[in-house]
Amino acid sequence: MAAFPALLLLFVAVVSGQIQITPREAVRQVGESLDVLCKVNYPISFCRVEIGRESYTIPSNSPAPGDPTYYGRGLQEGECGAHITNIKEAWNGDVYCSVPQQIGSREIKQSMKLIVARPPGNPELIVSPPQNELKEGETIRAICRVPRGRPAANITWHLGDEEILNGLKPPVVSNSSEPGLEDVTQELNKVLTADDDRKQLACRVSHLGLNRPLEARRQLDVQYPPRRADGNSDEQITIFGLKIQEDGRLNVTVRSNPEPTVEWKVSDVTLVPGHPNSHPNENSVWTALHPLRLPQDEVHGSGYYNVTLVLSPVTSEDVERNYFLALSNKHGEKRLMVKLSTLEQPAAQASILRLNVYGMELEAGAIVGIVVGVLILLLAVFLVVFAKATDRWCFAGSPPLDGDSEAPLPPHDDVKGAENPTHDHEYIGNGNTKKPDTPV
Ligand SMILES: *[C@@H]1O[C@H](CO)[C@@H](O)[C@H](O)[C@H]1NC(C)=O
Ligand SMILES: *[C@@H]1O[C@H](CO)[C@@H](O)[C@H](O)[C@H]1NC(C)=O
Repeated sequence: MAAFPALLLLFVAVVSGQIQITPREAVRQVGESLDVLCKVNYPISFCRVEIGRESYTIPSNSPAPGDPTYYGRGLQEGECGAHITNIKEAWNGDVYCSVPQQIGSREIKQSMKLIVARPPGNPELIVSPPQNELKEGETIRAICRVPRGRPAANITWHLGDEEILNGLKPPVVSNSSEPGLEDVTQELNKVLTADDDRKQLACRVSHLGLNRPLEARRQLDVQYPPRRADGNSDEQITIFGLKIQEDGRLNVTVRSNPEPTVEWKVSDVTLVPGHPNSHPNENSVWTALHPLRLPQDEVHGSGYYNVTLVLSPVTSEDVERNYFLALSNKHGEKRLMVKLSTLEQPAAQASILRLNVYGMELEAGAIVGIVVGVLILLLAVFLVVFAKATDRWCFAGSPPLDGDSEAPLPPHDDVKGAENPTHDHEYIGNGNTKKPDTPV
């Protein structure tokens, strides 16, 4: 199989009169230079190159400034190379070299393709459906069209800071209305998520003839019904750490676009933002606050709100009650039941909460846990080996470690019976069951 391309090359070389030209194709910007080398396997007496509409003899006795100059190892080596400088746009096309035939007086010639880069026009981005507000779950079709480039421009897609790699069709290159230039179109299909909201969808165009990429962009407005910010679909939320007789803020962080309408129901009383309510039987005021939009950088996304009910103060009855929170926008409604607790937030739950909101923090906690676990294990192993090696504590009376490695360990009962409940022995037990008071 490997011989086939070589044979083909030989065949081409023979048919074309045995001139080998390198490179066969080159892309250059206007003003750049190019070296083209034509080679035959016999000495030649002259050599000519054709660039654009001009024909040049090289080497020349009296070259004008800007004319191609000879390069190569010499005509007697069969080499006809042209060093072409200051490439012009009009030279886009074939470059020929001609040399005399080995026998006879005819000329033979060979060509290479010079593509003179021409930067494309501005890209055009069309998103359908065309309306500004899009809905989560909806599939958008985006088409980016880049006109009149040579060679065809290169398109990449981006959403916010990330490059989009999925949902792309292969780019389609077609002849432009202007001869010699090419248009490119690429289509993207994407299912929208809440995380896409407020992000810029961009079609970025790079091309040899451009110093910096061109871009067409469109800001996405992806709407969705209210939900818990942590993505948990559980309808019950417990708020910890409230103190009786002090003001309490029941914060629920939610995600919604557009902003949710808030309504709290607490034992027959309906509370809406902007209307503080005294509970009839108590000296306590309940105030529902307007949703507070959280800054995008703090929560790594858009559409986060804190929905808060202020109890001033928290009474012991308040802790017993259930608080019903109804959140709605034009896309749907979410009902949540909030319970209160005067306890501190359990550690595990705090971690889960952080995992959902900040991602990194749980990871840090887990790493600390693993490190502490490994240290405890190492300490336990070290103490056992140390005890056995030095014939101490539980291993008192058993053969030393380096004496006979096949000596069986004393049975577990014996260990208990070996009246040696030293402090260190207890410590091992502690490490394995209760764990020392290192925070995990
Ligand atoms: C609710 O948020 C406020 C900040 O707006 C904070 O001071 C308060 O401690 C939070 N309350 C709870 C129970 O998380
Ligand atoms: C929003 O509520 C969360 C609890 O859900 C609280 O930790 C945070 O401090 C609140 N942020 C603001 C700005 O109120």
